[in-house]
Amino acid sequence: MIQDDYRAAIDIGTTKVCTILGRKRSDGSIEIAGVGVAPCNGLHRGLVTDPKATTAAVLESIGSASKAAGMPIRRAYIGLTGSHVESRNIWSRVDSKSGVKVVAEEDMRRAISVASADAQTEGRSILHVIPRSYALDGIYGVRNPLGMHAAEMYIQTHAILGDQHPIDSLTAAVKAAGIGVSGLIVEPIASAEAVLTEQEREEGVILIDVGGGTSDIAVFHEGSIVHTAVLSVGGYQFTNDLAVSFDIPHKEAEEVKLKYGSAAQDARTATEEVEINPRGMDEPLLINRREIGQLMNDRGMEMLRLLMKKINEPHVTELDITRMVLTGGGVKLDGFASLARYVFQHEVRVASPRGAEGLPEVNQDPQFAAGVGILLWGMRNLPRESHISSKSHIAVSSGPLAGSGLRSSFRKMLPRKLAGSRESGTPVGV
Ligand SMILES: Nc1ncnc2c1ncn2[C@@H]1O[C@H](COP(=O)(O)OP(=O)(O)OP(=O)(O)O)[C@@H](O)[C@H]1O
Ligand SMILES: [Mg+2]
Repeated sequence: MIQDDYRAAIDIGTTKVCTILGRKRSDGSIEIAGVGVAPCNGLHRGLVTDPKATTAAVLESIGSASKAAGMPIRRAYIGLTGSHVESRNIWSRVDSKSGVKVVAEEDMRRAISVASADAQTEGRSILHVIPRSYALDGIYGVRNPLGMHAAEMYIQTHAILGDQHPIDSLTAAVKAAGIGVSGLIVEPIASAEAVLTEQEREEGVILIDVGGGTSDIAVFHEGSIVHTAVLSVGGYQFTNDLAVSFDIPHKEAEEVKLKYGSAAQDARTATEEVEINPRGMDEPLLINRREIGQLMNDRGMEMLRLLMKKINEPHVTELDITRMVLTGGGVKLDGFASLARYVFQHEVRVASPRGAEGLPEVNQDPQFAAGVGILLWGMRNLPRESHISSKSHIAVSSGPLAGSGLRSSFRKMLPRKLAGSRESGTPVGV
């Protein structure tokens, strides 16, 4: 029996963990089978600082996604972020045999391994080596040399590297939940996969995913990735500013931000009064929305300027890109997109994830771009491999969410399987 191709993605964010199980149909389209989201307090600026809390959130989100899909998840692709993630574009000479010959699959594979060896940097781990273009016998800009004739081939790749320690901490937190790691996918690449159109990638676009603790950047031009970077500033900074400035607890600051926060200076609501409860005061305090808006505006301007510094590398500025796509929960702050338009002077679009069928409406939101993107990228670029328990896999092969029997078999096996798994997932550099 041919088994269905089910694979899972886990986005371990600074504010929440999101697990998504999907199925790849024979026509290549991807359908969502289950989503699970759990709040997470185990990370700071995208890095694991409390492994136990991270593992607990992974377990909870895996449990919800498994329950929604009716099948236990055993392995997954994991998203990775943090300011240690850096990129560079490198040219590598692919050793050629003497004389003109046709470029074969084997040469393409060799090109990637030569480029990976060139990208190797002491103390750093290679996360991705993505082909950008090729040069054949001095002719540059070849996108796919397969089947072409050449005596000499060069490959240009986009190499993304990270520090080993945060990679190990993240994979350890996932493995402690009994989940095997089938691949690490850097979050900017994932978010881009879920929100960008072909046309945007072709014409040139800057993608920014503003999360709780990080802002992930990916720049594309002429269909290929040009620049990847992570800024360790996100939506949390806005909340923290409110908490510190008004001496209120973080929970209240987050509520005030979600309800009244705006990075735009709106004269119509500026004098509206908001009640807050500063520490040590017996009575609530009334503040103007203008005061909240001023803080959000200042922080937004600062954040966008820091992002601009991370983006404006010479190899990006020379491309004259004028489009920007924003995603991630942080861009839902009222007025943030307008502020980005003003600071960058770019055409700006706020995007939610696309490209997967059956995504619940509640997850069709910028906060889930990375989660959906990890799944899409993994399904499209990594080798097929089952991420669910084979027992339930066979039981559901007649349909993705079939039958109550399936759900009861899942209920029986989930705690034991998740707690006792010996999967030894290994990060994969692709
Ligand atoms: N309506 C809103 N207005 C303002 N901010 C919002 C809104 N909705 C969500 N946010 C902010 O979005 C952030 C969470 O976004 P997201 O879920 O993308 O982050 P994450 O993936 O958990 O974190 P990271 O990617 O940085 O590790 C929080 O700071 C939250 O306050
Ligand atoms: Mg995120």
